[in-house]
Amino acid sequence: MSVNISISPNVESIVMPENLRVGLMVAEQRKKCQGKGCTLDEYAGFAFGQSPFHVPPSLVSALGKHANKGHYSAAEGIVQLREAIGGFYKRHFKLDVKPSRIVVGPGTKDLIFTVFSMISGYVIIPSPSWIGYFPQLKLLGKHYHTLHTKPEDGFKVNPDDLNLLLSKLGLEKEQHLLILNNPHNPTGALYTKDELTGITKVLRKHDALALSDEIYGLTTYNVDDFISMGHIYPEGTFITNGLSKDRSSGGYRLGSCILPEQDSDELFIDFTKIAATVYTNVSTPTQFAAITAYEPNDEIDEYLSVTRNIHRIMGRFMSEEFNKIDGISATAPQGGFYFYVDFNSLGSNLKKKDVNTSNELGQSLLGHPHHIATVTGDALMLNPDNFGARIAFVDYDGKMAFDKYKKMPPETELDEAKFVKDAAPKMIMGIEKLKEYVSELG
Ligand SMILES: Cc1ncc(COP(=O)(O)O)c(C=O)c1O
Repeated sequence: MSVNISISPNVESIVMPENLRVGLMVAEQRKKCQGKGCTLDEYAGFAFGQSPFHVPPSLVSALGKHANKGHYSAAEGIVQLREAIGGFYKRHFKLDVKPSRIVVGPGTKDLIFTVFSMISGYVIIPSPSWIGYFPQLKLLGKHYHTLHTKPEDGFKVNPDDLNLLLSKLGLEKEQHLLILNNPHNPTGALYTKDELTGITKVLRKHDALALSDEIYGLTTYNVDDFISMGHIYPEGTFITNGLSKDRSSGGYRLGSCILPEQDSDELFIDFTKIAATVYTNVSTPTQFAAITAYEPNDEIDEYLSVTRNIHRIMGRFMSEEFNKIDGISATAPQGGFYFYVDFNSLGSNLKKKDVNTSNELGQSLLGHPHHIATVTGDALMLNPDNFGARIAFVDYDGKMAFDKYKKMPPETELDEAKFVKDAAPKMIMGIEKLKEYVSELG
C-alpha cells in the first residue's frame, strides 16, 4: 500500500539537469543499440562539462590534514577562508574585497540559488545559456525573461536589447537581475571592459542588478584579458566563483559569492541567514582545506597556467575542425572548455531526416551509428527550431595531458595539433563521426 504523495508543481516543472539527462539518453540509446549488435561502449563525449584534470595535490593533502575537524562552523564560511579568498581576488583579479563581502557556499550553484531567492523581480537569462539557472528559477517559481543573444554580437548581451527589455519590465516596479556568465558557457565568449561598461550603464539606468558568474574566469586563455564585473559595477553585482572548474574540484562543493558593495551589512546578514537555514555550513574539513587553494601557492599557480593552456589548445583545435565541416559554424572560445555550434544551415536537410527541433538534433547525433553526445535544445534555453548545440572539449585523460604538456609544451600550431591528436583520440574520433553524420544528411 502506498500513499499518494502530492508533489509541488514547481518541482514537476523542473527539467532534468543536463548531466543526468544526457546520462539517461545514453542509457536509452544503449538499449536501442543492442538490437543492432552494438554495445555503445564508446561515444564521443562532447556533453559533460567537467574539468578533466586531477585535483591539485596540495589541496588533496590539505583535505586529509583537516579530516578530523568534525565540528560545525560559520554559516557564511570560516573567516580564514574568506580572508584567503579576498587575497586571491586581489592577486588574480586586482580586486579589493573585504571578507565582510565574501560568503562561502556548497558550490556556486547553491550560491546562485540563494541570490535568486533573495531578489524580488525578474531574472533575465541570456540565451544560449548554461542549463543550471533555469531549473532553479522554476523551482523557486520566479519570473524570468529570456534575452536572445545574436551571432553577430558574438552571443553576448547587447546593451540596446537589454535596455529595451528592462524598459518593458520597468512597469513591474521591482528590481531585476541580469545573469552574466563570463567567460561564457556554452559559447566560450569573453566580455571586454567596454562591453561590460555598456551593459552596466543600462543596469544602472534601470536600477537593475547583475549576477556575474565568473566560474571560468581563471580559465581565460589570455588570462589578463579577463575583467571581473566587480571592477565595473561593484555596487550592483553578485560575483560567483569556486573550485569546480579552474582547480578541477567540482566534487569538493565549494564556491564563493562576493556581495555588492553596500553601506550596511544587511545583505551579508541575509545571506548568512539563508545559509544557516538551508545547509548550516559548508563541510568544515573542506573549508579548511580550501584555504590552501586560495592562499599564494606556486604549485596551484603552475597548475592554473598549464591547465588553461591545455584548454586553449584543445578549444582552438576542436573549434577550427568543427568549422571546417560544411554547414556547421562554431564559436572560437576565449576561455572555459566549451564552444557553441550552429547547425541551422543544415536545417532543411535535418528536417528531411525528421529532425525538426534542437532537442531532436541532440537525439539524432547520439543515435546509431554516430553516437555523438552533445547538449542541445531547451537545456541551453534555445527556441525549439534553433539547431544549436554545446560542445564540451574535455573528453580526454587530463592527468596524462597535463604531464605530457609539462614534459614538452607544444610550441607551434603543428605541435599543438599533434598534442590534441595524441592526448585526445576520442575527441578526434568525434570529429570524424560528425563529418560522417553531416555527409549522410546529403
Ligand atoms: C556557468 C556555470 N556556472 C556554475 C556552475 C556550477 O559550478 P559549481 O560546481 O561551483 O556549483 C557551472 C558548472 O557546470 C557552470 O558551467
